[in-house]
Amino acid sequence: MSENTPGTDSLLRAAAKLIASSRYLTAFSGAGISVESGIPPFRGPGGVWEKYDPEILDLDYFRAHPEKSWPAIRDLFTVFLGTGDRPPVRPNRAHDVLAAWERQGRLKCTITQNIDGLHAAAGSRSLVEFHGHCRTMTCLDCGRQLPLTAETVRDPVPRCSCGGLFKPDFVFFGEGIPAAAMEDAEHAALHTDCMILVGTSGVVYPAAAIPPLAKRHGATIIEINPVPSDYTPRITDLFLPLKAAPAFDRLAALLTA
Ligand code: APR
Repeated sequence: MSENTPGTDSLLRAAAKLIASSRYLTAFSGAGISVESGIPPFRGPGGVWEKYDPEILDLDYFRAHPEKSWPAIRDLFTVFLGTGDRPPVRPNRAHDVLAAWERQGRLKCTITQNIDGLHAAAGSRSLVEFHGHCRTMTCLDCGRQLPLTAETVRDPVPRCSCGGLFKPDFVFFGEGIPAAAMEDAEHAALHTDCMILVGTSGVVYPAAAIPPLAKRHGATIIEINPVPSDYTPRITDLFLPLKAAPAFDRLAALLTA
């Protein structure tokens, strides 16, 4: 469905009405919200997992083969950090609108699975980074933390002065979710009366359990995604078959009209 058809107009108006009348609005985002900032999603056409085997981000594999994982992680960061000849990626309209709604007191919390830092860059502060972030890296032996920059990861396998292996502070497969992030996400899911799902396939747990938890506790689920996800037939009340940036641009206009 294109972005400007009578069908999408009425869906957007219905979504704007739900958002306007919500008393505890939350958002749950995945890689799709950053696609229009130039960051590929993990799954689907052109996804990261078409280029890399997910095992490079498995914790046991990383410990055993850091010389294989780190080049792929550095490659991923050139997209986020703009190292080399690429400019750093910037938040798009979807990130900006969510941050503005938080400042206006309309949005209580954004839960993101993303580690690209774009919600924080857009100004979101009530933000749950469910899969951690890539601002720092921590030594697996002594716990020393360093900022994660193109400079600090220039060695093929970044190691601490104690000899330990540095690991970026985002969550690897096989690694637990930071306790505070889990707590904050569950708190939001138990209190929200309207959750906007944007740009997520809904297939990676335990993150993927958050929207169903909100649904079970009475939340209305609005979903923004150009194609249906695992959530669409199961928990979505209002599906907007749209890309994130134009959808949020139109919703913002409807809510200020
Ligand atoms: N706007 C909105 N959604 C989009 C857009 C767009 N412009 N482009 C793609 N999408 C949708 C896709 O249709 C897909 O449903 O975004 C979703 C991206 O899905 P995934 O790549 O699976 O990303 P995500 O759901 O965030 O993955 C969850 O998997 O690999 C792990 O830790 C990684 O956090 C990630 C987790």
